[in-house]
Amino acid sequence: MSRSLPVVGGHRTGFGATLRSDNWWAGPFATFLGLSAFVAYATWAGLQGDHYWAGSYLSPLYSPVLFTNPEVAGAAPIQHAWFGTFPDWWPAFVPASPAILILIFPGSFRFTCYYYRKAYYRSFAGSPPGCAVGPLASNRKYRGETGLLIIQNLHRYALYFALIFIFILAYDAYMGFFRDGEFGVGVGSIVLTLNVIFLGGYTFGCHSFRHLIGGRKDAMTCGNPTLTGKAWRLANIFNRRHMAFAWTSLFWVGFTDVYVRLVSMGVIEDLNTWSN
Ligand code: FES
Repeated sequence: MSRSLPVVGGHRTGFGATLRSDNWWAGPFATFLGLSAFVAYATWAGLQGDHYWAGSYLSPLYSPVLFTNPEVAGAAPIQHAWFGTFPDWWPAFVPASPAILILIFPGSFRFTCYYYRKAYYRSFAGSPPGCAVGPLASNRKYRGETGLLIIQNLHRYALYFALIFIFILAYDAYMGFFRDGEFGVGVGSIVLTLNVIFLGGYTFGCHSFRHLIGGRKDAMTCGNPTLTGKAWRLANIFNRRHMAFAWTSLFWVGFTDVYVRLVSMGVIEDLNTWSN
């Protein structure tokens, strides 16, 4: 007996086949370009291991800095590395970049995010590329998030790390207002502060976070006057804008790295209240 659902109404079959007359492909195509550009840039930047520190500004792609090599141009100073210099056991064939050790945490959080799943299922897997549009592989059985995609269920655990990263990045933004112990403000301070605000908006709008602080209940209807009910409604403010925060924070993380990198390389000058 067939386990597939009956098709009601029916639609054209074949990849990209549809009766839709709107530009349904524009969104998935833009998503494809945006995500590809970010992954390519973040991979390149994360492998460099240099110019991720400028004055007191630290690129979010490198935070926290577990190991550093202070002799490399634009590397974090030794006092800013959690465990000092790179250890002897660091494999020679792996670039000495501290970003390699930490990008798995924000990367897995984004990869398993409920919004991004929809985005890359459509844009990269074509499964399907849009509502009422033929999928890339129409003969593939729908198996839900089992098999390989069972790792999507790790999202709630990735969230715990993402929350820790928000505190770390908030500390980085705070440190961006100090240079040699002197308080000041620079364009970089504001760039780093906006970075943690956008990332906070994304993280606090996470469906798993809302479930967590909402008391892990299955239904929140009929008004819930408890503290968890109020927290759930608060998270809804961010959750309703989850896609917007996802893109804004993604773009801003990349932009922040570019800004710190260019200042560190001396390509641009950071306007600030300190003398340099
Ligand atoms: Fe998007 Fe959790 S659902 S970050």
